[in-house]
Amino acid sequence: MAKETLTVTDNRTGKTYEIPIEHEAIRATELARIRVRPDGPGLLSYDPAFMNTASCKSRITFIDGDRGILLYRGYPIEQLAERSTYLETAYLLIKGELPNAEHLAQWTHNITMHTIVHENIKAFMDGFRYDAHPMGMLVATVGALSTFYPDAKLIFDPESRRIQTHRLLAKMPTIAAFAYRHAIGMPYVYPDNALSYTGNFLNMMFKITELRYKPNPVLERALDVLFILHADHEQNCSANAMRSIGSSQADPLSALAGACAALYGPLHGGANEAVLRMLQGIGSVEHIPDYIKRVKAGEVRLMGFGHRVYKNFDPRGKVIKKLADQVFEVTGRNPLLDIALELERIALEDDYFVKRKLYPNVDFYSGIIYQAMNFPVDMFPVLFAIPRTAGWIAQWLEMVQDEEQRIARPRQIYLGHAQRDYTPIDKRPEPRG
Ligand code: CMC
Repeated sequence: MAKETLTVTDNRTGKTYEIPIEHEAIRATELARIRVRPDGPGLLSYDPAFMNTASCKSRITFIDGDRGILLYRGYPIEQLAERSTYLETAYLLIKGELPNAEHLAQWTHNITMHTIVHENIKAFMDGFRYDAHPMGMLVATVGALSTFYPDAKLIFDPESRRIQTHRLLAKMPTIAAFAYRHAIGMPYVYPDNALSYTGNFLNMMFKITELRYKPNPVLERALDVLFILHADHEQNCSANAMRSIGSSQADPLSALAGACAALYGPLHGGANEAVLRMLQGIGSVEHIPDYIKRVKAGEVRLMGFGHRVYKNFDPRGKVIKKLADQVFEVTGRNPLLDIALELERIALEDDYFVKRKLYPNVDFYSGIIYQAMNFPVDMFPVLFAIPRTAGWIAQWLEMVQDEEQRIARPRQIYLGHAQRDYTPIDKRPEPRG
């Protein structure tokens, strides 16, 4: 069968180039065959923010943004949210297939056995100020983990990769909960390995003086579903950070600290916190039209709306909206829900949002649920980081074992000065501005 190619004609020289098309893409390095100057490097492609550049081949997560489809290893997110658990989904993402009962039990045991952190981690966390943002604490503490486990550097040893995977999945909830307890001046709660992954996290967050914390089963399951929904999202900003840092062969614990930092920003995992602050700022339904006016004037963004890939409803948002009703039956209705529902109604009818295909994303409703469950607003990005750990690890494992990958090193278009001579300080012009 003839190979598909793209024919490019260089109008300056009249030369034509056949560029192979594979998987609906061309290799950017093929463009380097096209000489711009006889003595210069070949033609570059320029793509700030990776708007149209694939950085890897992946078999983990598929998104069809126009149709609002999200699949983990081929399974629709709606089915996983309905029928799977977070730990089972993490297994699926990391290992590629759903586990049988024996493998799931072993996987759960392996992760549960790593939930405790070294006592020095506690001392390390004690060093933060009382009002430290828990996400900042998480970034720093996960980075510090690499100093406790120098064997994590053996990234080409499958056994080391396996143990770091268990450690990271197990210790993220512990570190996250410790960050919260530190902020409120309460003693840290040690893991209870008899509880489920999310049940134990709720225990470490909210246990007070009771001998044994009993999580509410509805909230425990709701958190598990939220964790499934946040577990991976292909080449997003933080997954790209994980792969990029990992490409220098840094250990996965350090790389994961970098991924957490990437998630921290308000355009990514910080968006759920920003949504809640926005809803609180709007305050009541009567103030919505004013807020929409400001959005359309470009003064503020409607947080929790829009997505680089989804140009339709985010399928995760749909699941979360349903979940909210179950949670509110236990916790009572969050009054911010009325503002959110009305904002959504108005935005979905407004030309500004319709034209730009801006729909609610995963973060629009998740914060309202987290708040009803008693999580403080600054824990929201942390609640995103815990489950995303599975995705980051899956992406990192795929990268480390991909023979085509090398150190991530983009090119640039240099627009600065040509070479010039150093000017002595007394000969320099007055600085401008
Ligand atoms: N409110 C108002 N206008 C918006 C919004 C928004 N939330 N999002 C995009 N736009 C407008 C934007 O101003 C631009 O308009 P114009 O063409 O007139 O300049 C157009 O829509 C395209 O926006 P963009 O910024 O070029 O789109 P992007 O793909 O670079 O950004 C985004 C995607 C998610 C960063 C952006 O939609 C955004 O800032 N949303 C709010 C933050 C948010 O909810 N982030 C969570 C994303 S989902 C969870 C995750 O992945 O972490």
